[in-house]
Amino acid sequence: MSLFRFTSLLLAAHAAAQKCPLQFDARVPQDFALADFDAPNDVFNSDFVKGKDLVFSEILELSPESTLFDVNTVPLVLTINDDSIFAPSADNVQTGFRRAELMAVSNSGSDDSTIGIKTLHFSLAKDSLRPLNLSHEYQLVFLESADFSTNQFALKTGTILGGNTADPDTLQLFGNINDGQLLFTTPFTDDVIHNFALKLDFEGLTTQVFYSQGAAALEAVTEALPNDVSGQGQFHFGLLKKPTGSTGDITKEGFQPSGINEGVLYGGIFEEDSTGDCISLSPSCNQSQRRRRR
Ligand SMILES: *[C@@H]1O[C@H](CO)[C@@H](O)[C@H](O)[C@H]1NC(C)=O
Ligand SMILES: *[C@@H]1O[C@H](CO)[C@@H](O)[C@H](O)[C@H]1NC(C)=O
Repeated sequence: MSLFRFTSLLLAAHAAAQKCPLQFDARVPQDFALADFDAPNDVFNSDFVKGKDLVFSEILELSPESTLFDVNTVPLVLTINDDSIFAPSADNVQTGFRRAELMAVSNSGSDDSTIGIKTLHFSLAKDSLRPLNLSHEYQLVFLESADFSTNQFALKTGTILGGNTADPDTLQLFGNINDGQLLFTTPFTDDVIHNFALKLDFEGLTTQVFYSQGAAALEAVTEALPNDVSGQGQFHFGLLKKPTGSTGDITKEGFQPSGINEGVLYGGIFEEDSTGDCISLSPSCNQSQRRRRR
């Protein structure tokens, strides 16, 4: 055995031994049926967020695709239609939005997923059969603070309200919306699965972005950028379609075309504990992030 081969084996053994502890795992087991999303289950909240007269089995599809971290698990296509009107209470009917979002069941808003240093993983892709309308702004993944006053980050696409979007067909990751800083952008290329990991330092108040496409391992695409991720809260994975032409309360006013059928594929949703710089860059290689500088 060559010395090189021997060293590689040692490195492989080291990487395999190093598992980052999972904070939550929202990858969907292969034996899950659509109806399982409608009743309390171990993966996603069965009540939120969706049109008040809809159940998740009506707006989800199990996908035959496979994403980077869906090794023995199943991605989903999440859809919105004209009935995707969320009503958190009887006098708060969000007619300005069309919404369908998944939330990991253990992520209560005050749990450990928003303290310490954690890395949030997810993959997403366009559904060619159910295109988005890029004249609108969509939030695709976001963290909403426990007091509902802000989003500490929001991955968006389309024409950003009040923004100056050069190309709406772009994935745009914003930091805390109070600051409006754009952390990372990449073209929302068709027929490609986009993989993200966001390393969220809830102590140092930074966000570092990792990204890849298809089966490629994640790579750091930013440094740890200052970003106010304080305030705990809940991660949302899905479509929050904002209206056009609103001059007031966008949750209730503005224009939403009717007859829509839009969807996005989501998979590989989990969060790991990145204490000690542990981060999974691919399913076979949960390696410690190489320390840069110092
Ligand atoms: C980490 O690697 C092990 C194999 O060494 C694998 O079983 C596990 O699923 C990986 N963790 C993640 C989050 O993919
Ligand atoms: C896209 O949205 C705009 C603004 O709401 C609307 O005018 C247009 O008809 C929509 N396009 C399609 C194809 O639905």
